[in-house]
Amino acid sequence: MFSYFYPLLRSALFQMDAENAHRVALSLSDPWLRYLPRPKWSKTEIQVLGLHFPNRLGLAAGFDKNAEHLHTWRALGFGFVEIGTVTPRPQPGNPKPRLFRLAESKAIINRMGFNNDGVQAIAARLRNRPNDLIVCGNIGKNKDTPEEDAHQDYKECFRALQDCVDFVTINVSSPNTPGLRQLQQSEALTQILSGVQDLNMQRKVPLPIALKVAPDISPDLTIEIAEVVKDYRISALVCTNTTVGRNGLQEQQSILDEIGAGGLSGPPLSGVSRKTQRLFRTLLPESIQIIATGGISDLSSAQTRIEEGASLIEIYTALVYRGPKVIEEITRGLS
Ligand SMILES: Cc1cc2nc3c(=O)[nH]c(=O)nc-3n(C[C@H](O)[C@H](O)[C@H](O)COP(=O)(O)O)c2cc1C
Repeated sequence: MFSYFYPLLRSALFQMDAENAHRVALSLSDPWLRYLPRPKWSKTEIQVLGLHFPNRLGLAAGFDKNAEHLHTWRALGFGFVEIGTVTPRPQPGNPKPRLFRLAESKAIINRMGFNNDGVQAIAARLRNRPNDLIVCGNIGKNKDTPEEDAHQDYKECFRALQDCVDFVTINVSSPNTPGLRQLQQSEALTQILSGVQDLNMQRKVPLPIALKVAPDISPDLTIEIAEVVKDYRISALVCTNTTVGRNGLQEQQSILDEIGAGGLSGPPLSGVSRKTQRLFRTLLPESIQIIATGGISDLSSAQTRIEEGASLIEIYTALVYRGPKVIEEITRGLS
């Protein structure tokens, strides 16, 4: 039903500043959606990563950074949600404005900078999570943690979240935390993945661990990352985060100059994101899953990513532009 109202709501939301619209949309929909059950769509269930997913479609990280709306995502039909990125200590993120719609290209540029309530508050909130929704904890480092200590931040987040999520994504690919993407280099990545896996292997049942990569990496770095991923028994790759590139946009250069730095998402990201996914697919054994995200805007683009080797799909920007109807379209279409 919400899908029918969304076009009306969307025109009001698009009059507002993008970050306010995000807040208003969630606060309007939450009070009544949170009590609704998951829609009944047949033959959508799938077993991946040793977990039983209600369907293949997830909400990408960054939409529900603080795990405040999980019941709503379930009611809208998502099979899983990546909460976060979560950091050890709460942090306010970058100064506003930091979220921009590029309506002609159906894209978004953001430089949020990991604004979140901190891992302890988020772990406490997850105690009331719905059980029929797979929840992934996407973890990162605080802005003021030096790069050489970054592995400690990832370990701290893992420790705090491990008993309240179904799997964990290590995010080393957001462009909005200075130096974060450097953590994709072999040495730093090894330190982070080995640190988290040491903790994980002490568990009775280790959690699946995913790694989220940038679409802006060279083929050489892709090969290096694939080696580290295999060495440290990573279960999945999230391909990809936003891009720092600005290709494929309809907007004038002056508009882009005014917006400034940030990660680009939506259809213009699709080309580089798919390229990254395809290269990783050739470098990794089939046992390592790919979770595709980046420019997926409809059933056909989701199907393409599955054909190119992904087992799960995530969206963010398409939900903003198309509303909840895109969830049913992709979920039922992929069933
Ligand atoms: C406003 C905004 C905030 C985001 N925040 C995060 C984040 O905190 N952590 C993360 O791993 N990805 C974050 N992302 C990236 C998305 O999870 C996703 O990888 C990206 O938007 C590409 O998917 P899309 O084209 O469907 O939007 C964010 C994206 C947007 C638009």
